[in-house]
Amino acid sequence: MDYGLRERVVLITGGARGIGFEAARLFAAEGAKLALADINVAAADAAAGRLIDLGAKAIGIGADITSSAQCAEMLARVEDGLGPLSVVVNSAAVLDDKTFLESSPADWKRTVDVCLYGAMNVLHTALPGMVERKFGRVVCMASDSAKLGQARLSYYAAAKAGVIALVKSVAQEVGGAGVTLNVVSPGATNTELRQEREAGLRASMGEEKYARRVRSVLKMYPTGRIGEPKDIANAILFLSSASAGWVTGQVLSVNGGFTMT
Ligand SMILES: NC(=O)c1ccc[n+]([C@@H]2O[C@H](COP(=O)([O-])OP(=O)(O)OC[C@H]3O[C@@H](n4cnc5c(N)ncnc54)[C@H](O)[C@@H]3O)[C@@H](O)[C@H]2O)c1
Repeated sequence: MDYGLRERVVLITGGARGIGFEAARLFAAEGAKLALADINVAAADAAAGRLIDLGAKAIGIGADITSSAQCAEMLARVEDGLGPLSVVVNSAAVLDDKTFLESSPADWKRTVDVCLYGAMNVLHTALPGMVERKFGRVVCMASDSAKLGQARLSYYAAAKAGVIALVKSVAQEVGGAGVTLNVVSPGATNTELRQEREAGLRASMGEEKYARRVRSVLKMYPTGRIGEPKDIANAILFLSSASAGWVTGQVLSVNGGFTMT
């Protein structure tokens, strides 16, 4: 399939690692030009270096998406360095592992700032140029916890539910200008984010209880495994492609059958 991404400029927030970086590798293989933006500037630069080593055109950008000013600077650096922006993948996120009653207003604020306000900042910055040029593809990352709720992820799930509502609403506003917005909603995926959370759970639960947890998690996945970053990145690539111009305002769960709604 020709994704129509050759020479397209693609910005990936949270692109230094995990699903964002895996998507960047697939975009690069299609001939796209990549801007990897991340709060961890050293990691963003290193990740861009890995793409350049593969023969891609790529830049790393340090940006905190909770700041609208930094998002504006990020866009300026993308367009000065690579050209007009065609595709945005908003993958940056943070996640706590706490019950709601263990958590504090500061915890909620940090998570909602990154996961929901961050998405708003990125969209508000990127969309005007896309609308003007009459072409754009936006993919935001949510989570199946936003659909089902999930113990110990309450405020993250709430922020991601907000992202879904944001994308569906804005998709209605800009569809006529050739700009699509969609959500990819992964199930458990084997990235650093998940590995860090699992390491914390293992330490607090002990080996035996943790092994039971792993078995019960796998039982929830009809496909018998959790996801790999490439499972998710393939869906991001399709929704960012020229061929997906009639797909907008959708939530695509990529989750090995964990939810089927
Ligand atoms: N991994 C999973 O199991 C899973 C499941 C469901 C949804 N998701 C979602 O998929 C997306 C990618 O997840 P991942 O596992 O690759 O995460 P990850 O933690 O591996 O990568 C996220 C990146 O975002 C960056 N980041 C954090 N705060 C930022 C900020 N304020 N500004 C800019 N960058 C910032 C981090 O430095 C990191 O490099 C996230 O939106 C996450 O919520 C992941």
